[in-house]
Amino acid sequence: MKYYHTNTNFLWGVATAANQVEGGWNEDGKGMSIADCLRYRPQIDIRDYKSVNSMDSEEIKRALRDNSTKGWAKRHGVDFYHNYREDIRQLAETGINTYRFSIAWSRIFPNGDDSKPNKAGLDYYLNLVKELAKYDIEPVVTLSHYEMPLNLVLNYDAWYDRKLISFFEKFADTVIDYLHEYVKYWIPINEIDSIIRHPFSSAGLVEDRFQNKNFSNVIYQSMHHQFVAAARVVQYCHNNYPNMKVGCMVTRTMVYPYNSDPQNVLQASKVMRDVYAFSDIQVRGKYPNFLLKQLEEKNIRLKMESTDEEDLKKGSADFVAFSYYSSVCTAYDVTGLKVTKANRTMGVYNKYLPESDWGWQIDPIGLRLSLIDLYDRYQKPLFIVENGLGAVDELASDGSVHDDYRIDYLSKHIKQMLISLTQDGIELMGYCIWGTTDMISASSNQISKRYGLIYVDLDDEGNGSYKRYKKDSFYWYKKLLSFGSEIP
Ligand code: BG6
Repeated sequence: MKYYHTNTNFLWGVATAANQVEGGWNEDGKGMSIADCLRYRPQIDIRDYKSVNSMDSEEIKRALRDNSTKGWAKRHGVDFYHNYREDIRQLAETGINTYRFSIAWSRIFPNGDDSKPNKAGLDYYLNLVKELAKYDIEPVVTLSHYEMPLNLVLNYDAWYDRKLISFFEKFADTVIDYLHEYVKYWIPINEIDSIIRHPFSSAGLVEDRFQNKNFSNVIYQSMHHQFVAAARVVQYCHNNYPNMKVGCMVTRTMVYPYNSDPQNVLQASKVMRDVYAFSDIQVRGKYPNFLLKQLEEKNIRLKMESTDEEDLKKGSADFVAFSYYSSVCTAYDVTGLKVTKANRTMGVYNKYLPESDWGWQIDPIGLRLSLIDLYDRYQKPLFIVENGLGAVDELASDGSVHDDYRIDYLSKHIKQMLISLTQDGIELMGYCIWGTTDMISASSNQISKRYGLIYVDLDDEGNGSYKRYKKDSFYWYKKLLSFGSEIP
């Protein structure tokens, strides 16, 4: 059977996050962000996903003392800050009609609590969306993607402090007002669920700053503040710009039972409920009973204000955006079973699936299952805003990069998506490849974990010319996007 792209309203694109591509960490009034404190630490085993981005107060002090850029991967990114015009021009050649990017909060409010925004930061993003408009590329803007002003960590308790809701609202409303003529699609916060897996890089929580508190409580309370803040952004857009659509965004990892032992099936169902909890709140506008029960069992008491319930209800998302990279298995007793990992989630190895250079298991059918499950659960339009392969690429002497493994990964996932669109009765707004140029990995702070369609000459230590080279996958995507052509 052949599958064709038929819907011309479908958003085909690419996606990035400010802290992973921009660089320009202290330029034009930008403040220091939590991402500017992260560096590639070769001595840490990247398979130990929890340690890679762990952060304590000593490490933050070290980051504050060191004003250099080299060695601090997210301070230099791939210099998209200066190169955005040329990068967008090249990407437009593929035929994309959407580009998802995020705003660096600390470019707009350098300290997070400033009374006035930094105009240079706002203008930067205005120029960026104007540039996209030149090529008829629809922006999809994430307001916060693993980046917040460091001052909010040092002088508040990051997202644990309820004041963050109003700081975020002010930031969001300012950006939305400034860009409203150009941007219709918004995502308030990338993967709110990630706060559980990496509390610092997701939400600025440094465990040793909460010594007298139960850290799980801190995490859930912070997450609650994020839910309220995100819901207020939805309301702001709906009240002021009725044509805007605001989505929630969750990490989608497909979780299978290790085998048909009902105990393992039950375990998988429990883990999947944990995965759903975060989208349930943002789509249905209330905490699911099973999560409330879990919190009660863990003795976690959320402080809520009287308006929170109403805010969550009124601020439910218009669409469900998600990232999808891989799947894992799970078992009620993992003793003796081979362990594997997905997007910073540990699980049991699935013998039916190959794995990437970083050990993430490759599962295109998991994407189709995710589309079916999410649509059946919410009946809201879905949007795959991240899908891609982090791999080691070789730049040949003639400037070519033969990344057939990436083409294989992407085409198999896209094929499953198209099968789902044609056969499963789902609603899907679009699909974005994670990676325009290569960028700094969120989890390991490496550039050598490359996702891009365009190679950037840079190594994990920050050495290189930053020159760009189109990979084979670039030409493959271009061919795919010549509408009507068969999916290769
Ligand atoms: C997603 C994040 O979950 O995973 C991205 O939103 C991230 O920021 C992507 O880059 C891939 O993860 P990593 O750690 O390989 O960069």
